[in-house]
Amino acid sequence: MKKRLVVLTGAGMSAESGIATFRGAGGLWNNERVEDVATPEGFHRNPQKVLDFYNKRRKELFDVEPNEGHRILAELEEKFDVRIITQNVDNLHERGGSSNVIHLHGELMKVRSMGGKEEVFELTEDNLEIHVGDKCPKGYQLRPHIVWFGEPVPEIENAVKEVEKADIFLIIGTSMQVYPAAGLINYAPRDIPIYLIDPNQVLLHNDRVQVIQKGASEGMKEFVSLVE
Ligand code: OAD
Repeated sequence: MKKRLVVLTGAGMSAESGIATFRGAGGLWNNERVEDVATPEGFHRNPQKVLDFYNKRRKELFDVEPNEGHRILAELEEKFDVRIITQNVDNLHERGGSSNVIHLHGELMKVRSMGGKEEVFELTEDNLEIHVGDKCPKGYQLRPHIVWFGEPVPEIENAVKEVEKADIFLIIGTSMQVYPAAGLINYAPRDIPIYLIDPNQVLLHNDRVQVIQKGASEGMKEFVSLVE
């Protein structure tokens, strides 16, 4: 049986594809206030501003490609049972060839109805924008299928179950500042190896982690040489 490799990824995973991270120099949150574009209150105050923020980011997906790090993760499926838990809302893991991806914070290419019973719709390349007044067939306004700050993270339970069953846990490109995602490390079984790939120092309250201080692509090559 293949060993189960559970991977937690963040914005740094997609940095080498050209998608900006959130924090640090050049980060998205230097230009936009989280409260304005990533909270239910911000959406209530100025829905079109929020829709435009995600419309723009959705379009960016068509200007970028998966990087070597994404591709190596997909190739690892030959040797490992790879389960990816991503905080990213892009689709680069899937486009890189990975088959098991949990999106903790939602997906840019999906929108959902604001009506009582949640209905999710997939957007297509010829229909990438949503605007105030765009409604689902039942007449409710559409919103991005994104987990905003202060909202529940419905996929967290599935993610916890994956981490609890891991034989190896690998963290790539996340500052580990946003919960509950950052808390997933605490569910890793006690006796398994934990690796972290990040070119910068990440503050972790866990001394079991083996740090590979490199970018995602180079870091993935080193990880492969360590586990194969
Ligand atoms: P951050 O922007 O907080 O952290 C990105 C991490 O990627 C940092 O630790 C960087 O050092 C690292 N990094 C930079 N370049 C890299 C590279 N080439 N290879 C690997 N790592 C690199 O992003 P996240 O931790 O993903 O949520 O942020 C978590 C959540 O906060 C996001 O999902 C988003 C945000 O607000 C929502 O919007 C709900």
